[in-house]
Amino acid sequence: MKTIGVLTSGGDAPGMNAAVRAVVRTARYYGMKVKGIRRGYKGLIYGDIFEMETGDVSNTLQRGGTFLLTARSAEFKEKDVVEQAVKTAKYFGIEGIVVIGGDGSFRGAKDLAEQGMPVIGIPGTIDNDIPYTEYTIGFDTAVNTAMEAIDKIRDTTSSHERCNIIQVMGRNSGAIALSAGIATGAEAILVPEIPYDFEEDILRSINLGKVRNKTHFIIVVAEGVGGCEELATKIQEVAGIETKLNTLGYLQRGGSPTAQDRVTASKMGSRAVELLREGKTNRIIGIKNNDMYDIDITEGLEIKNNEPSDLARLAKIISI
Ligand code: F6P
Repeated sequence: MKTIGVLTSGGDAPGMNAAVRAVVRTARYYGMKVKGIRRGYKGLIYGDIFEMETGDVSNTLQRGGTFLLTARSAEFKEKDVVEQAVKTAKYFGIEGIVVIGGDGSFRGAKDLAEQGMPVIGIPGTIDNDIPYTEYTIGFDTAVNTAMEAIDKIRDTTSSHERCNIIQVMGRNSGAIALSAGIATGAEAILVPEIPYDFEEDILRSINLGKVRNKTHFIIVVAEGVGGCEELATKIQEVAGIETKLNTLGYLQRGGSPTAQDRVTASKMGSRAVELLREGKTNRIIGIKNNDMYDIDITEGLEIKNNEPSDLARLAKIISI
């Protein structure tokens, strides 16, 4: 393979730039050409494609976001659009594409593969919600951002002897909520994967804390759980404690990537190029038992795991 393309797709994640940089630098190391594709699959459809050189990725490693830009492309679900994208890629001489994104982006990559365009996927999403891999690029940065914000909120919550509900990102996944909640000693963590019981999971914890003269109650809620405003009103009424609501929102998607995200992204980016070079195509790279591995894209996307990990159990035991 002499020319490859690289794109970032779906929600951006800190570390995407580091992955693109590793793709470009590794490809150039092996004498391959690299084409950057802007705005994810949109760039592939409309031919927003440019040649990248080693210098084009200088000074990008430490930057959040994605300098290739990203988009969620609904039209890419249409078969004729995918066929057109493959034609465009071939017109630009692209023989294989590295897709950096979440599971929605991987479904697009699978469609490309089925239309004859070799692909390699690199998992990049702050949600860490793709079951075939233990880790997705951006998660560590997002958890650290949420942790720092919650620590600050806890200071003022304590001073005013209040309860604070903090909504973190994760439409279908409680991964950020669990890690950030455990890291900040939240009294309760609510995730979409596990239904919660108001009396048992919230009221009990608040009442136990009151007995111990606790001055704050932090409840971390994943976005997918919903109903935070109603929950705040209910806690105020039933537990008799003033309750505020904070939504951390897009703050969690930005910022300079942590060392873990930079290193993981660099390793995965480089491996993606090596796989294409070795002719091992239509694979997605992931982490299993703390080691990097790769798996066939169709097989990998079929892996299901709705359990939000042992962290949920740990949180129940120590978040009192
Ligand atoms: O990228 C993942 C994520 O941040 C989710 O946690 C969140 O639900 C969603 O993206 C928000 O998407 P959008 O950028 O389209 O608002």
